[in-house]
Amino acid sequence: MNVTKVRKHFAFYKHNKNLYYLDSAASALKLDIAIDKMTDYYHKSGVNIHRGNYELAFFTTEEYEKAREVVAKFINADAKEIIFTKGATQALNLVANSASVFAGSNDEVITTEQEHNSSILPWLHQADTLGYKPVYIPLNNEYRVTVENFKKVLNKNTKVVVINHVSNVLGYINPIKEITKLAHEVGAVVILDAAQSVPYMKIDVKDLDIDFLAFSGHKIFGPTGIGVLYGKKEQLLKLNVYEVGGEMVAKATKDQIIFQDIPYRFEAGTPPIGEAIGLAEAIKYVDKLGFDKTTKHIEKLRQMAVKGLQEIKGITVYNPNGDAGIVSFNLNGVHPHDASSVYDELGVCLRSGHHCASILTETLDAPGGTLRASISIYNDEKDIEKLLEATKKASEFFGRY
Ligand code: ALA
Repeated sequence: MNVTKVRKHFAFYKHNKNLYYLDSAASALKLDIAIDKMTDYYHKSGVNIHRGNYELAFFTTEEYEKAREVVAKFINADAKEIIFTKGATQALNLVANSASVFAGSNDEVITTEQEHNSSILPWLHQADTLGYKPVYIPLNNEYRVTVENFKKVLNKNTKVVVINHVSNVLGYINPIKEITKLAHEVGAVVILDAAQSVPYMKIDVKDLDIDFLAFSGHKIFGPTGIGVLYGKKEQLLKLNVYEVGGEMVAKATKDQIIFQDIPYRFEAGTPPIGEAIGLAEAIKYVDKLGFDKTTKHIEKLRQMAVKGLQEIKGITVYNPNGDAGIVSFNLNGVHPHDASSVYDELGVCLRSGHHCASILTETLDAPGGTLRASISIYNDEKDIEKLLEATKKASEFFGRY
């Protein structure tokens, strides 16, 4: 893969010549074409959609709806099944807002200790009130989810499975197709947090047969403030409306509200119009680049990082066999926040701490969390060399040799 060419599409590299960006799992760099398209909207239009009866409003509405179609095509969904939200967190909360539709007293909600707070907390938070029991798939000795272990907790009381596709801390790809098939056999719905997988691998919601899927725009080189909830039509129709307001009603009288059809009933108020249009450009770019090339490139760099880290004394790598360009590690006995200052001095941008996956840090027995390097399409060997150089320096500084 030609990283030099890829970097030309990210203005970040013009402005930050001395930075080594390894924090794409937190937020990917933004593609120029996504920014330009968004700026275009703000410069040349800026008008609202689905409201005005004039040419520019019609044109802008069409751009927004075309963006929905781009997203739908990308994950093999129908446009009606795509709801624009402000991010993956809102998308996951939108589904959990209807928790009572899916699970109640004596029911079980299966999840994992790998979850990002945004997928698990909306369900934990309502467990006592609604009476369902959260159940965790036991992780194996690598902290992976396996189908075998999923079968151990699945039973006729399982009503919901809420799970990540790729762990934001360990980078593992979970066996979602198999899990979904088994979950459906007992009549449970599956909610997939795909925030980390959508930028990394091809997703086909029909093939996975998933009920709901959520992701964010900013992790796929698009703008912040935009996310996506995919839901099968029949599942979306079961959800309570999340917010009530402008343009999500077909008709309102003093006594009655009739909601619009999906997806509009879930897009109350003026949506993030420019951001949706920008996101569509980012998606088109990723699609054109091709996952076959990018995943190979990322995997090569991931292996280089793991090998290099394992050669440095006093380092624990938590996921040496991780799948998706994510490497979590620690300098033994050093709080990751303390260690991260050394990386910062060398211009290496990585994340330290819990990575919004609070439960997992307990499982990993890493109370302060971890250091996490996350690799993406614009990274190269030099980024990994700098990561290793900073780790050696940190290890020497903190006396880990
Ligand atoms: N969920 C993001 C991360 O993993 C913010 O860093």
